[in-house]
Amino acid sequence: MEIHTNIPLKNFTTMKLGGNARFMTEVRTPEEAVAAFRNAKAQSLPVFILGGGSNVIAQDAGFNGLIIRMRIPGFEVINDDLNSTTIKVGAGEDWDAVVKRTVDMRLSGIEAMSAIPGTAGAAPVQNVGAYGQEIADVLESLIAYDTQTDNFVTLLNEACEFSYRQSIFRSSQIGRYIIVSITIKLSKNLPQPPFYEALQTYLDQHDVHIFTQEIIRNAVIDIRTNKLPDPKLLPNTGSFFKNAIVEDWQLTDLKANFPDIPTYDMGDGRFKVPTGWLIEQSGLKGKVLHGIKIHDKNSLVLINQSASGYRDLANARDEIIDAVRNKFKIQIEQEPLEI
Ligand code: EPU
Repeated sequence: MEIHTNIPLKNFTTMKLGGNARFMTEVRTPEEAVAAFRNAKAQSLPVFILGGGSNVIAQDAGFNGLIIRMRIPGFEVINDDLNSTTIKVGAGEDWDAVVKRTVDMRLSGIEAMSAIPGTAGAAPVQNVGAYGQEIADVLESLIAYDTQTDNFVTLLNEACEFSYRQSIFRSSQIGRYIIVSITIKLSKNLPQPPFYEALQTYLDQHDVHIFTQEIIRNAVIDIRTNKLPDPKLLPNTGSFFKNAIVEDWQLTDLKANFPDIPTYDMGDGRFKVPTGWLIEQSGLKGKVLHGIKIHDKNSLVLINQSASGYRDLANARDEIIDAVRNKFKIQIEQEPLEI
């Protein structure tokens, strides 16, 4: 196992800031992942698993431990019946390459999650979602190394406790599991309307009335390229904030003061309010705070234009959170994890 020392985390995270990792290694098999973990444990070093670095922010102090870069490959059909195909995917696979392969196989379930940066193993951590689909809808199970019991375990979907951008892997069990593969069950049916609002609008505008997996994938890629900055050109982590979730009584108040407020009924007495709208209405869209630009096509996205480090990002973030709280009395939350 090759272990590198003092590696700048800005080269491994799409926000391109933060300090150094004391140690970093790459793993290509589940056994290598275990060996790397045990090695760090023997030296009492903390461990952090890094996929594509597209949903992780590195702090200026860096990471005084071992970063394990997840590179385990794999794409294997493990079940195929009349209606569905089940595929086991290595945690280190590039997520969008996986989406493309499944679309080429004419399978439905993740085509609307096209062009999302990152790895397959990271997808369950934040329950990645876009345009009406989320990984929780197709994930059957995953295999992880349980660092507490020193065993590989299979976790079924329910055990991951998925909710909006949330799972046990970033809440109650943070740091416990090293995900080595995910198993997803995809449908052989064509994508079915009605689609997520922004996607439906795009399809209507382009006069698209036949819906194949490929058509949906291409539509999503087009929407995303127009609205989201390419992290290779403009450092960002996609949505920097989660959308806000409010109770119905809060909504009554909000609607009285802001009649145009967009809301999505979550069906459980709660409503999602687009944080992009809240930030835009707070007058911040397109502004630059501490070298961090609030993206002019979607205020939910922060771009590292010229920040000198994590501190600048944290200051910009806190000012945005304060502005939204002052105007709407809503506390918005950061989405990416921090090292
Ligand atoms: N809006 C504004 N101003 C803005 C941005 C958005 O008014 O600056 C309003 C619009 O009214 C729009 C609504 O917000 O109708 C929702 O916007 P959109 O459909 O573009 O989605 P989003 O809430 O900005 C979420 C996900 C994205 C995902 C899209 C599409 C989160 C935190 N973000 O964004 O995921 O691609 O929906 O499904 O849930 C990510 O997590 O990194 C990500 C990009």
